[in-house]
Amino acid sequence: MRQSDAPRTYRVKSFGCQMNVYDGERMAELLAEKGLSAAPEGEEADLVVLNTCHIREKAAEKVYSDIGRLVKAGGDKPPMIAVAGCVAQAEGEEIMARAPAVGMVVGPQAYHRLPQMIDEAVAGRRATDTEMPADAKFAALPARRKVGPSAFLTVQEGCDKFCTYCVVPYTRGAEISRPFADLLAEAERLVAGGAREITLLGQNVNAWSGEDDRGRAVGLDGLIRRLAEITDLARIRYTTSHPNDMSDGLIAAHGEVDKLMPYLHLPVQSGSDRVLKAMNRSHTADGYLRLLDRFRAARPDIALSGDFIVGFPGETEAEFEETLRLVDAVRYAQAFSFKYSPRPGTPAATMEGQVPREVMDDRLQRLQAALNRDQLGFNQASVGRSCDVLVERRGRHPGQWLGKSPWLQSVFFDEAAGGAAAIGDLVRVELAEAGPNSVRGRVEQPAIA
Ligand code: SAH
Ligand code: SF4
Ligand code: F3S
Repeated sequence: MRQSDAPRTYRVKSFGCQMNVYDGERMAELLAEKGLSAAPEGEEADLVVLNTCHIREKAAEKVYSDIGRLVKAGGDKPPMIAVAGCVAQAEGEEIMARAPAVGMVVGPQAYHRLPQMIDEAVAGRRATDTEMPADAKFAALPARRKVGPSAFLTVQEGCDKFCTYCVVPYTRGAEISRPFADLLAEAERLVAGGAREITLLGQNVNAWSGEDDRGRAVGLDGLIRRLAEITDLARIRYTTSHPNDMSDGLIAAHGEVDKLMPYLHLPVQSGSDRVLKAMNRSHTADGYLRLLDRFRAARPDIALSGDFIVGFPGETEAEFEETLRLVDAVRYAQAFSFKYSPRPGTPAATMEGQVPREVMDDRLQRLQAALNRDQLGFNQASVGRSCDVLVERRGRHPGQWLGKSPWLQSVFFDEAAGGAAAIGDLVRVELAEAGPNSVRGRVEQPAIA
């Protein structure tokens, strides 16, 4: 690689989960601290960070085509390209070998080194860093900047569960919890910077553990209870949880901590015990349902969400129907469903009984029909409820605003005469009309700042 000018503008493109979104924000903060500015919308950036995801199909191919597109768009002055995220971790060496346009490859636990790597690239030296000491990363990141009303905070990283279909334990490394004091400090910065809601993130966020300010061992519920004491923080959420890491304290917190929102994302993947076992999920369908009953007892209005995989190797029609029955029993407010995608290096990729594409397509369609039915049903059942909406952005029409209900529904409403709303407000509305993906609200009283 030849020497180049130091980049002045950057763009970070994040794919994948919310943890990648969080990492993307932190990389942007690092680049800003180095003196770069965000490239204006529609303009080419001097440095492009592709913050990639490896969870499903064709992730690597997509990275190569993105690189090709960037090189072409740049003409005789192509941008400096950094590949970050989970594809970088899994296939860094190969990317370096195959794509000479890439100046640096940096894994999810090493991106604090991005500024130095840029200097190296300017000097004509390409570099790869896929080391995994996550604690070093957080200590080396700059303080949080101004943020939107709803902010992410990664509290736990990595995964030790090794579900047989999943790449995350390989791309993100072992489970680690960030220290209580660091999280409290970061949360306070986020709130000072404008956040009214914080979503605590981790691949197994409910496995978080630490020591509180008085030296007591605490779980996620202890952290949540402490964060709830931050005066200007109005809402706390957390995602994603694993059924096996759920504690009595966290369930109880849903009934006791007002700021903890009535929403639980708890993936189950399948309703068949045989499939769950082959997935190495180490819980049964019934155990999962009983766990949800306990959440409902603690917080009767809790909205439930989940993830599903159809067409795991060996899944029969009868086993798939068990998933449909589980969905009927739970009545999710929201859910995400995917066709099984063989991931290189995972045990399931070489299992017998890979399910044909047409069968997967058919099952996904049937599952999604059931999930859509329940999502609409949940929205319809919420009509008539009063709740606060956290305003996140303007709607399409003048005077219209969009935000989230406590149950994470997208709510749009027209501001009341004499009561202009603003981003970050909590506005009291009555939910008035339900659609499949959003609910219309009617303002009950002027906005409270
Ligand atoms: N740690 C979280 C989520 C991880 S990835 C958890 O365990 O719940 C998010 C979702 O992607 C998973 O819940 C699963 O439904 C889906 N997923 C993961 N690997 C997949 C694969 N190989 N094929 C299809 N879907 C997959
Ligand atoms: Fe993947 Fe399973 Fe870990 Fe979730 S718990 S990240 S699905 S291995
Ligand atoms: Fe994707 Fe990595 Fe997240 S594989 S889902 S970006 S942990």
